Amino acid sequence: MPSSTARSPRTPPQHCLPPHSRTVGCAPAAVSDFRRTDPVPHTPAEHEPLLSDEDFAGDGRHAEGPDTDGFDAPRRRGVGASERSTPPQPQGPAQTDRVIISAAEEIGIGGSDALIAIDDVTGELTAYALAAISEQSDATVLSWASSYAVASGLRQRFAEQVDSGLLRVPSGPQAVSLEDAVSEVGDHVVALMRLPKALHALEHRVRSLAAPIGAREQSSLRVVAGGRVKHMSRNQNDVLATVFSEVRASRGIGKSRALIGSVLRERPAGPSVAEGSSQVAVRGQQRPVSLRATGAVFGGARADAGSRLLLQTLDQAVAAGELATEEEPVTTAVDLGCGNGLLSAYLAAALPESAVLGSDDDTDAVLSTRATLAANGLDREDVQVTWDDAISQLQDRSVDLVLLNPPFHDGTAIDATLVQGLLDAASRVLRPGGQLWFVHNSHLRFRTEVERRVGPVRQRARDRRFTVLSAQRA
Ligand SMILES: C[S@@+](CC[C@H](N)C(=O)[O-])C[C@H]1O[C@@H](n2cnc3c(N)ncnc32)[C@H](O)[C@@H]1O
Repeated sequence: MPSSTARSPRTPPQHCLPPHSRTVGCAPAAVSDFRRTDPVPHTPAEHEPLLSDEDFAGDGRHAEGPDTDGFDAPRRRGVGASERSTPPQPQGPAQTDRVIISAAEEIGIGGSDALIAIDDVTGELTAYALAAISEQSDATVLSWASSYAVASGLRQRFAEQVDSGLLRVPSGPQAVSLEDAVSEVGDHVVALMRLPKALHALEHRVRSLAAPIGAREQSSLRVVAGGRVKHMSRNQNDVLATVFSEVRASRGIGKSRALIGSVLRERPAGPSVAEGSSQVAVRGQQRPVSLRATGAVFGGARADAGSRLLLQTLDQAVAAGELATEEEPVTTAVDLGCGNGLLSAYLAAALPESAVLGSDDDTDAVLSTRATLAANGLDREDVQVTWDDAISQLQDRSVDLVLLNPPFHDGTAIDATLVQGLLDAASRVLRPGGQLWFVHNSHLRFRTEVERRVGPVRQRARDRRFTVLSAQRA
């Protein structure tokens, strides 16, 4: 039976204020301190007009690997990040931040320029931007982060500037696309960012900036995007060159360099949405599900193999009446870490009487899931998608079913703590008797973790790559 906390069918999940404050936990820093204590060093020998071929590693289609430039980078996902690791302390910008800041100074920030920091995991670009506009009377800074946890950390660290209106950091639970956030800034923009690992993510970010700004009369955009030279490629210049007619490299600092794009091309294209599809069994019937992907969402518009195995097994249980019986209906089902929305779409199609919630820390995922649901005509009122860190906005013991295909990597390293935080979240929101369906890589072991955190476990499927477990909340 549904618990007393479970809601009646067709009631959208209610979101209460987060019971826990989960953030990347940056301590407050005086903006002026940053400028005073951390001059950006330049040496003439480091000044080069363009990256040379030797600077590029590999074929550069995807510049993989974590950016370990001496900074203890916070985990992108904040699931309990504040609980499990030392929060990043404002200790002066790491090399890549310094090269971005140095390049911004090199190009000069004018009195009428609006500044945007993008995916500023360290907070140092935001601190610099605030310092740079401190002399201007009505200037503001936009700090946009795709990750809810990173955005929360920025809001916490710069609470004073957010409260005074100097700084805008879009927050949840709706998720604001970069394109929409940019539409509210001035006409002359300087954007500061680290180069994303994947080229399509870079393309998405620069197009999200260029399209709304380029559509205005008398506007300008300059982008300063920095990275470690070993992770940079000519392809990144090419991506920038699709929206800018001038692209060059900045002076280097150590092993970091920045690319600078300026002079917008006419009518630059906006960000695109990738389309794909997959066959999924819904109550035993094969159905095509259209998938949509924007930005750097996990898996793009393809169905993840682990999720496919999870759905195959789950649908057998649903079709056999093991889940969602008349006596024990699934009134609320959650896709935790919804990515491109494959699992949310399945839940909405297979459980038409249930309220469904897809939730993700990543704005790109939230927007992709919404687009996937709409593409399949499944965007009904009681199917919602929220931007959140580990479903912090959901009430305890309010959910009957949670599906989880968690991230196992932070950059390139396997990081079990990412999974543990999400398992804890699933355990918290499940009502007693509610079920978690969980897929993990077969070479990892999670049965004991799941049993300890949630309750008795059954292995539902296992192949060479993936294992599907279900657990009943004790
Ligand atoms: C392996 S992907 C699975 C995506 C999708 N469910 C699928 O099956 O294709 C894991 C997803 O979890 C999301 N995620 C990671 N940490 C999260 C957190 N703390 N809160 C919510 N979502 C998170 C990631 O952004 C990513 O979309």
